[in-house]
Amino acid sequence: MPASDPRPAHIGILTVSDRASRGEYEDRGGPAIQEYLSQVLSSKWVGKPIIIGDEQQEIEAAIKQLARDDACCLIITTGGTGPAARDVTPEATEAVCEKMMPGFGELMRKVSLDKVPTAILSRQTAGILGGALIVNLPGQPRAIAECLDAVFPAIPYCIDLIGGPFIETDEQQIVAFRPKKKK
Ligand code: MTE
Repeated sequence: MPASDPRPAHIGILTVSDRASRGEYEDRGGPAIQEYLSQVLSSKWVGKPIIIGDEQQEIEAAIKQLARDDACCLIITTGGTGPAARDVTPEATEAVCEKMMPGFGELMRKVSLDKVPTAILSRQTAGILGGALIVNLPGQPRAIAECLDAVFPAIPYCIDLIGGPFIETDEQQIVAFRPKKKK
């Protein structure tokens, strides 16, 4: 697709939190992801936010809805990646994805460990469902930029490879890397 791709990128923003879904706690993760994307993306995009509890079947259903019905090319989840009994976002991600992309989790944990020793407690991962890349982030709002800054340079090309819209970034924020085509 040329740089003038007219398709806006639909991006799912999935907050996974029992307390936020019950309204006992203000969702700070979803708005932080929205804000991050507003700063980083220079091409057109539309956010599709959803808040749900830590129930594996609900998470799976929400990811499928965002990927299929809402035609999202990117779905970013926040929360539910830790070791507690109700932390099941990575399990839900693996259950619905056709391919896992383990490098995302590896890199996000690596950079996060420079910030906080408990980064090792996150089992965050990523994978592909149809035309959507799903990326898990921890629930801590400050983890959002810490993690996305590391992996975002590879996200636009990953979306190219799965047939999504041509995503462009503000190069002052993030430089998207696309390998040069062989002549
Ligand atoms: N990664 C970054 N970059 N920043 C953080 O503050 N918090 C950690 C870890 N990863 C954190 C992080 C903590 S304390 C936990 S328990 C795990 O993510 C899992 O968090 P979650 O269950 O909210 O997803």
